Amino acid sequence: MNIPNIENCDLHGKAVLLRVDFNIPIKNGKVHDATRVLRSLPTIRHLVNAGAKVIIISHFGRPRAKDNNLSLKNVVKTLSQLLNKEVKFVDDCIGKKVQKVVNAIAIRDVILLENLRFYKEEEQNDANFAKQLASLADVYVNDAFSCSHRAHASISRITEFLPSYAGFCLQDELRYLEKAVSFEAKPITAIVGGAKISTKIKMLIRLAEKVDYLVLGGAIANNFLLFNKVNIGKSFFQNGVDSLLHDVVKIADKNNCKIVIPEDVLIAVNSDYSTCILRKTESVLDNDVILDIGPQTLSTISSIVASSKALLWNGPIGVFEHSAFANGTIEVMKVVSDSTHKGKLTSVIGGGDSLSAINAAGLTDKDFTYVSTGGGAFLSWLSGDKMPGIAALQSMLN
Ligand code: 3PG
Repeated sequence: MNIPNIENCDLHGKAVLLRVDFNIPIKNGKVHDATRVLRSLPTIRHLVNAGAKVIIISHFGRPRAKDNNLSLKNVVKTLSQLLNKEVKFVDDCIGKKVQKVVNAIAIRDVILLENLRFYKEEEQNDANFAKQLASLADVYVNDAFSCSHRAHASISRITEFLPSYAGFCLQDELRYLEKAVSFEAKPITAIVGGAKISTKIKMLIRLAEKVDYLVLGGAIANNFLLFNKVNIGKSFFQNGVDSLLHDVVKIADKNNCKIVIPEDVLIAVNSDYSTCILRKTESVLDNDVILDIGPQTLSTISSIVASSKALLWNGPIGVFEHSAFANGTIEVMKVVSDSTHKGKLTSVIGGGDSLSAINAAGLTDKDFTYVSTGGGAFLSWLSGDKMPGIAALQSMLN
């Protein structure tokens, strides 16, 4: 994809406004997963080495107003440690006080501004707010792929006021996502699990056009089982999507894409998670709740993965948060990572729960070709939606 990148820019002495995604899991003021911070380091280091003055901006959570629990102050220590450099925090993101700090910073200094969403104008994509942010710097860099599906002031509007470029993390995300769906060697497999099929229909349709195997798990698979007139008991599914499922099946048939749904499942009776029973899918009873795949399905998926050349994964296969129903997700993760390490598979994983599922399997992002930082953004991109942050950067080339 053609996108302006920072690599060849002369940034010496320039103030650079760097949009990252530091919306990370924090409990009681402590960072629980620093993946998104780690992914921003190559761009920050590049800017520092190029002699820029680095002004980092991000949102955190979904505040309605200023809220200390959602302050980016909680990220400063982790960022400083990982960067091995002192990072100064400013408790606002626009206005005279911020301008004063920015005026005083030296070449190669790094500062982090307060949560952009403390101003409602950020999510309103407000031009004046974007202009105030832009007035702090000479150049804008977007390194927040995971926010680029949002038409927000610091993501899209801001590019109207500053020369704008993509950072390295954002470029990697686009490169690997593109690579996984347009891989030349076949077969290509997509695994899609998770809870809400309505949010994934567009992605499923697009994947059915591009991949050879569409492996379904979680409540997504329940919807397909029901569509095939299989009893799913009291399992979670979404109503009113049958005509859309029909479209997915039709497109899959047309493109020789095989849809793979569970042959056997682990169920709990009446949602009592202490009961864990294996059943053939066609033998599910009225009080059963399907919570994971069974060994036969695991073996089928493992063979598909073993034969695949590229694989995209979004969403867990079972309710992996409960140990009795974590096996499907964990074992398939291990098979994918094994094949990746053997150099047989290009694997790209993304979406909301991916990192927790990878952690649950005792693996890390190093066990796959690429783990996306995107939740909603990963879905948006794979659904073929226009992403305002990416479109704004591309418009710089016109
Ligand atoms: C994410 O965590 O997916 C991004 O930071 C975007 O957050 P949002 O869904 O609150 O816009």
